[in-house]
Amino acid sequence: MPLRWNPDLTAADVTPETLFRQRRLLMKGVAAASASAVFSAATEQLLAAAQKEIADVRKGVITLDEAQTPFKDVSTYTNFYELGSGKTTPSANADRLPLDSWQVNIAGAFQQTGTFSMAELLQPHPLEERIYRFRCVEGWSMVIPWIGFPLKDLLQRLQPTKAARFISFETLYDPSQLPGQKEKVLPWPYREALRLDEAMHPLTILAVGMYGRQLPPQNGAPIRLVVPWKYGFKSIKSIVRISAGYEQPQTTWNQLAPDEYGFYANVNPEVDHPRWPQNKERRIGELLRRATLPFNGYGDEVASLYKDMDLHHYF
Ligand code: MTE
Repeated sequence: MPLRWNPDLTAADVTPETLFRQRRLLMKGVAAASASAVFSAATEQLLAAAQKEIADVRKGVITLDEAQTPFKDVSTYTNFYELGSGKTTPSANADRLPLDSWQVNIAGAFQQTGTFSMAELLQPHPLEERIYRFRCVEGWSMVIPWIGFPLKDLLQRLQPTKAARFISFETLYDPSQLPGQKEKVLPWPYREALRLDEAMHPLTILAVGMYGRQLPPQNGAPIRLVVPWKYGFKSIKSIVRISAGYEQPQTTWNQLAPDEYGFYANVNPEVDHPRWPQNKERRIGELLRRATLPFNGYGDEVASLYKDMDLHHYF
């Protein structure tokens, strides 16, 4: 049974669901490990991790001094073409994403490769809240409290080899279940990639939740990328494969329209998209537009990654 998306869940409903799903994920992982002693220790650890993330939220360890976009907007105004190409179709089709038994395949230039259950993937990584600005190339933006962990922690665990210059990500391809994939609106599967130093940057996270709860399917459950200084299309949803390689890989939007969507996709008010100017943005829920900041306001942290590059050319 796929998880049913219920937009009317309140915060009070969330913890039991989160714990329930964490426990189910864990049981699958543990079945693979086949050791009952591991079960209770790992259960404690995973449940504690879930509780800790809520405690972190309360302490406000990671903050951004800007109003958060309401959960309802973030979960219903979405881009997820696998679930339909409108803004509200992904939430309407949310139950089409087959979340049970989700696995992530790790391949290419890593010392550790293989196929991981969600429990195996998440288990060593404490979850934390990160409140980030999120800017779409279409000209809207949001402020979202994600729950996740730094991608670099997973990469360090997988040990990239010398051949790993780029990290690539792929979304589930299953046209029998994902209605949007019956149409050729995008080259499927959805693919994205980062240069290794971008992937290793401490701001880059893999998110499994937002607003204190698990990610809704339409926001990329069970695991998605979030790269806050890049346009939203780099933040690939519902990942089933992570691979490392030497050559710059093909990415979906860049492949579809290279003049409109660059590989780097750093938020840049000086480089307009042919259809949407990029120097202003509308924060969802606000009337007036505001100035877009270079690197979406994360320039102090990330500009050095691009110091020798012409960002008008490498947009
Ligand atoms: N990932 C997949 N697999 N499929 C998509 O259609 N859309 C991208 C990105 N990740 C997309 C995706 C785009 S264009 C944007 S702007 C963001 O997801 C939107 O994320 P949100 O809907 O959670 O705000």
